[in-house]
Amino acid sequence: MASRFLILCVSSLFFFLAVSSEEKIFDVRNYGARADGQKDNAVAFSKTWKEACLWSSGSATVYIPPGVFFLGQVKFSGPCKNSLTFMIKGTLLAPRNPDVINQDQWIIFMYVEHLTVTGGGLLDGQGSDSWRLNDCQKNPNCRSLAMNIGFDFVKHSKIDGLRSVNSKMGHFNFFSVEDFHVTGVTITAPGDSPNTDGIKIGKSKGMRIYHVTIGTGDDCIAILDGTTDLDISDVRCGPGHGISVGSLGKYKGEKDVEGLTVRNSIFNATTEGLRIKTWAKSVSQISVSNFLYENIQMINVENPIIIDQQYCPHGQCDGSGEYSSHVQIKNVTYNKIWGTSRSKEALKMQCSKSYPCQDVELSNINLIYKGPDGLVTALCENVGGSVRGKIVPGDCWL
Ligand SMILES: *[C@@H]1O[C@H](CO)[C@@H](O)[C@H](O)[C@H]1NC(C)=O
Ligand SMILES: *[C@@H]1O[C@H](CO)[C@@H](O)[C@H](O)[C@H]1NC(C)=O
Repeated sequence: MASRFLILCVSSLFFFLAVSSEEKIFDVRNYGARADGQKDNAVAFSKTWKEACLWSSGSATVYIPPGVFFLGQVKFSGPCKNSLTFMIKGTLLAPRNPDVINQDQWIIFMYVEHLTVTGGGLLDGQGSDSWRLNDCQKNPNCRSLAMNIGFDFVKHSKIDGLRSVNSKMGHFNFFSVEDFHVTGVTITAPGDSPNTDGIKIGKSKGMRIYHVTIGTGDDCIAILDGTTDLDISDVRCGPGHGISVGSLGKYKGEKDVEGLTVRNSIFNATTEGLRIKTWAKSVSQISVSNFLYENIQMINVENPIIIDQQYCPHGQCDGSGEYSSHVQIKNVTYNKIWGTSRSKEALKMQCSKSYPCQDVELSNINLIYKGPDGLVTALCENVGGSVRGKIVPGDCWL
């Protein structure tokens, strides 16, 4: 008798839970969106977002079906009542003309928690017409063009399965996000497209980036100041400029970068592999610490391992050696890094004279150079630390 009563109680509890949490799908077509590749769907998408965001009875899904949806620019703001899924099945097409986007990213999510962006769809930034406007290699005050997608102040969220091509500048931007997982993302732009960074991260904490494929004309992943506890694994990077920390130290008020791991990844035909870059002429006295780079394959990489604390492009430093970076690099481990280097100097660490690198540990490094310039070499300046196991090139005695 008692057990029957219990079963009754439990089943009515389940019934209660089921009706109290009602999932709802908000299809953009019901808000006027059209997949004809021409109509600007910004208003329809914003309306859909607004209603989904206000849905308080359960989780909500914004649904973008297969098809090509042209989109001027959008900003999806929270906070929302519940967890929210943004499902992109189709292609979102950006305007070709960069002048019509007047925000930092073409698509922006901000102040949201428990957001999932998924669906395997495509963001097409249509950047090819904009790339010739980019003169940032020569001009420090070059104009900035919209990135494809940005997440600002977004917490406890994830992107699982999304493709991005041909952004005008970078592809994914993360600013001040917390506990954010990125998986199954593919990012593509031509190797000679300027400043088309894959993933750019600043002032963010607890990000996980796993199982991504990135080939662009700039950094596969760029890690900027204030980033802590970042775990990266299973990245296929190339073409591009590798996984890069920096440039750091140039501006006042920058924050430390602490706790980075990069593991189980492949760099294929990139200019850099694992890079840390700080401005020679720096005003911020910050630190870069507790990094682990492990189990990384280099295929034909120009500079597989590089620390450059003498960064000063556009002739902004009067003479070389005039300035010395104030960024302190410490506790950085490189373990099991192997493969082929396109330059003879496969390992290059030029640390700051005034703040030498501390506790740099090298173990099991095997980088091969097969070019006309002779044997593979290493260059280390102002580096302290230790060496374990087999190290090739082994010219650095830390
Ligand atoms: C590296 O890139 C080349 C050229 O795109 C490609 O043929 C090769 O399969 C890649 N290697 C690996 C291991 O991904
Ligand atoms: C050095 O960094 C690693 C992470 O790479 C961390 O686990 C370790 O605790 C750090 N060591 C010190 C002395 O801070």
